[in-house]
Amino acid sequence: MRRIIIDCDPGHDDITAIVCALAHPEQLDVLGLTTVCGNNLLDNVTRNLCQVMTVLKRDCIISKGYDSPMVYHPEPQRAAHGETGLAGPELPEPVIEPISLHAIEFMKKMALEHGKITLVALAPLTNIALFLKTYPELKQNIECITLMGGSRYGGNILEKSEFNIYADPHAARIVFESGVPVVMSGLEICQECSTPHVLIDSLNQGNEAMKMMYDILQFFSEYNRKRNRDCSPIFDVVPVMHLLHPELFETENCAVHIELDGMYTRGMTVFNENDMDSIKNVTVLTHCKDTVVYNQYLLNDLISMTK
Ligand code: BDR
Ligand code: CA
Repeated sequence: MRRIIIDCDPGHDDITAIVCALAHPEQLDVLGLTTVCGNNLLDNVTRNLCQVMTVLKRDCIISKGYDSPMVYHPEPQRAAHGETGLAGPELPEPVIEPISLHAIEFMKKMALEHGKITLVALAPLTNIALFLKTYPELKQNIECITLMGGSRYGGNILEKSEFNIYADPHAARIVFESGVPVVMSGLEICQECSTPHVLIDSLNQGNEAMKMMYDILQFFSEYNRKRNRDCSPIFDVVPVMHLLHPELFETENCAVHIELDGMYTRGMTVFNENDMDSIKNVTVLTHCKDTVVYNQYLLNDLISMTK
């Protein structure tokens, strides 16, 4: 049984990833969900998460982290996630509240209590970097940090930069250079694992939870539907699927560096293609062997969690 903390900024794809993780209590012990400024401001993403957990009737521990990246200013992604960070579904007032413990204190507590934990990072890496900086002696308690972020070739916020790394590159550099095993699900593998719109359309809207997931995924796929594409990447799901079904993926050990600034390069994950770096600091997911099975697993998880 792997014990995990999911660090997130919900976010449509964050919610979908959390649902997949919670669907597998036999494999993943979700110790808690920590929130961080990213897709939207900290209070908004935390409220979104509390509302969703209210609909799912899950009283997962939720702990708030940092309300701003280490150096840069917050940049809410209204085009991708709407005004609140989770546009689409109508959500009730939350009956679940975050605990008073700060995210990095919660991570510390869990690391000490359980000996080894896995951090699943679905957002800018501010919480995780500052946890590692504040409690370096606890690095040995982190089995791995599996994250959605970065890219080898093209970006989604700048020509060469992916949003989670762009939003807080200083934090990303700390994490990538920490010596803790890092597993990276970059834009390319997320694109490869894109979910067919027919699968999203097939979700039965029979109950409140399923209707919520249907509305979340309809909103998130609108961007690609408008461009006449028949599938959409649900980015943050990939690292969770990799934990659940590692046999579906091919990986490569790479040396990856983070650019901190530059009009065209802030947040770029620079891959050392010439093999000049002896230290391969990141395991990169390079290929999904069966995307049909991948998406069937995703559909099964959505159905089982919203029954
Ligand atoms: C990442 O950015 C966010 O908008 C998504 O939730 C995902 O974590 C994709 O670049
Ligand atoms: Ca996210």
